[in-house]
Amino acid sequence: MQEQNADTMVTHELKPGVLWVGATDFDRRMFDELIPLPNGTSYNSFLIQGSEKTALIDTVDPTKEFELVANLVKLGINRIDYIVINHAEQDHSGSLPMVLEFFPDATIVTNAKCREFLIDLLHLPFDKIQIIGDRETLSLGDRTLEFLITPWTHWPETQLTFLQEDRILFPCDLFGAHFASSDLFVKSEMEIYQSAKRYYGEIMMPFRNSIRGYIEKVKALNPEMIAPSHGPVYNTPRIILDAYTEWTSDDVKNEVIIPYVSMHGSTQKMVDHLAGALIERGITVKPFNLTRTDIGELSIALVDAATIVVGTPTVIFGPHPEAFYATYLANLLKPKVRFASVIGSYGWGGKTVETIVKMLDHVKVEVLEPVYVKGAADEATLIALDRLADDILARHKAAGLV
Ligand code: FEO
Repeated sequence: MQEQNADTMVTHELKPGVLWVGATDFDRRMFDELIPLPNGTSYNSFLIQGSEKTALIDTVDPTKEFELVANLVKLGINRIDYIVINHAEQDHSGSLPMVLEFFPDATIVTNAKCREFLIDLLHLPFDKIQIIGDRETLSLGDRTLEFLITPWTHWPETQLTFLQEDRILFPCDLFGAHFASSDLFVKSEMEIYQSAKRYYGEIMMPFRNSIRGYIEKVKALNPEMIAPSHGPVYNTPRIILDAYTEWTSDDVKNEVIIPYVSMHGSTQKMVDHLAGALIERGITVKPFNLTRTDIGELSIALVDAATIVVGTPTVIFGPHPEAFYATYLANLLKPKVRFASVIGSYGWGGKTVETIVKMLDHVKVEVLEPVYVKGAADEATLIALDRLADDILARHKAAGLV
């Protein structure tokens, strides 16, 4: 466990009696051993004080459990009645055991699926957890919590909590951003837009179809604030709701992304030629050299692009491992790309093109004629790449993107 510094402990007020009591991790650079965090992150936990009861919404990553408890102690909180858990992943639930040590009379409130996960992951006692259903409410006296069961806003047990009287939505992972900030509220819309888009691409994009339905439910609540469990709080929810409406729509942009790797320059030459040909045809191109690319950048590009072209040489009998990884990741993230192709070169054989195409089985793409050549790219290769650029332009035009 990393050392925690009491000087960094701090609380913020969203509204009188609604407090941020979480933890900010400016130093964290990797999440789930998968996602790069160029801007750190935060684990937001909120305390809601009603006239009769007090509730804590989510906890923090166990590496920061001391900060959460110290925040509560510093505020003089001597009783918590309910701990609402919107999501069982440990960055939000992992401090529950410690919070329960300090507040043993608290009841955990969540949905049935989440209870199952909490028992599996944290070995919590079954009878400590109160189950709520979709659109059920919990009174804190003069404040009321309403729950919306929203599976697949990361995991199958996720839910949202709405504080009715103050119109604050606590959606946990949904609408979040891995962005460590000393400010409670969003300060720079542009800065948070990029960070939230990266987060959406890396974490939420595979659940696009479910999320699209939830956005309408959230809009119907007309929240005054959206307080996710990562990143700053939105006191202008329109920013993030408009962004999610666009990202989860079926609309794609006149863009081609080219994740690629080149060993001896042939694939590089092909990527450069194709990129130039696409630019000449008025198409936005985003090449990513996979030996240097932060996969978060690739995930952001996957949110909007109409076409993906994987560039890879053949290593022994298949794709270069970097291209294999990027394709595997793209397939997991299920972007809304419509067209795909493969370019590159081989020395003596292999099944690179088939392997890459087969790996995209969760992405509904039309495969365009690959340009895959033996040896170094020659004049005929460049002409074939021009044909691929023509083909992409024709598809984008037919789709109304140009
Ligand atoms: Fe922030 Fe799915 O945990």
